[in-house]
Amino acid sequence: MSDIVIYHNPACGTSRNTLAMIRNAGIEPHVVEYLKTPPSRQMIISLIERMGTTPRALLREKDTPFAQLGLGNPLLGNDQLIDAMMEHPILINRPIVVSPLGVKLCRPSEAVLDLLDSPQRAPFIKEDDQVGAGVAMTVAIRPVALEDAAAIAGIYAHHVLHGTATYETVPPSVAATREKIEHITAKDWPFLVACEGEALVGYCYATQFRDRPAYAYSCEDSIYVSVDHARRGIGRALLAALLTAATDQGFRQMVAVIGGAEPASIALHSAFGFEHAGRLPAMGWKAGRWRDSVYMQTALGAGSSTSPAAH
Ligand SMILES: CC(C)(COP(=O)(O)OP(=O)(O)OC[C@H]1O[C@@H](n2cnc3c(N)ncnc32)[C@H](O)[C@@H]1OP(=O)(O)O)[C@@H](O)C(=O)NCCC(=O)NCCS
Repeated sequence: MSDIVIYHNPACGTSRNTLAMIRNAGIEPHVVEYLKTPPSRQMIISLIERMGTTPRALLREKDTPFAQLGLGNPLLGNDQLIDAMMEHPILINRPIVVSPLGVKLCRPSEAVLDLLDSPQRAPFIKEDDQVGAGVAMTVAIRPVALEDAAAIAGIYAHHVLHGTATYETVPPSVAATREKIEHITAKDWPFLVACEGEALVGYCYATQFRDRPAYAYSCEDSIYVSVDHARRGIGRALLAALLTAATDQGFRQMVAVIGGAEPASIALHSAFGFEHAGRLPAMGWKAGRWRDSVYMQTALGAGSSTSPAAH
């Protein structure tokens, strides 16, 4: 937890992008879903003052009862506008972010960068958008579709046949890959792909660490980038997005089980604050040698500081 607060509406893309950028700076903010738990009147007044704005400027018109309530009437005073926000919190524009560096309505979402004292850990990719933050790359991240199975099977086949990150030795078929996508998405676990134009260049997913019920809040990540697109920031972008998606899903721990103690994977996970959690020697026999498995782990969201019911 940090001293950053976001008044968040999960249904709003700008709000989701802002939250993802905060998390991409390595910060887990206090998330207030203000439609469920609206700020008090005193708090709204204080936020408006600290933003140096007016109640009218904070009012949201789109998809709200703004017109119906006649809030465009310039004769209405600040008190009346705040009354309307109290009665209909959807009228409060979003997302408002409070940090020790200031308070802002973060529209566009990049406005949040002024409120963060640490840099973005990976090229930030807005939902349904191109890579931002001045990175020369045209990769977009989106949820997987069943039609991605062939491209995913192709990327994975290379790592099965030529790498040690996975201990599979025979590349799974496209049909088996489709089944895997179906299985993971049916559980509502995150499965994301990175695309350059029409080409799928990497993918990642998080699955429950082990099946038994008490593991419900611990996940394991898997990330694979096309060998032709390695070392261009795609792994970082995928892992940043996966951390956000897995946190939103309610997972509290993420574990990387790194076959062959692959240096690229260890470096990637270290860059995101994963810590070494153990090394199991000689767990796999691949490419003519015994291979160690390295475990790395990071807490997600509130981690173990609250019970899962608090999510
Ligand atoms: C690990 C993997 C996902 C990284 O993807 P990528 O897109 O090439 O990685 P990025 O370009 O985003 O690099 C991120 C960081 O990872 C590390 N890294 C990536 N490739 C590396 C390599 N070959 N050697 C050492 N470090 C490497 C670096 O720290 C790098 O940061 P830097 O470029 O600023 O130094 C990719 O190499 C891969 O698919 N490997 C096989 C499967 C695997 O190991 N998956 C992870 C375990 S589930």
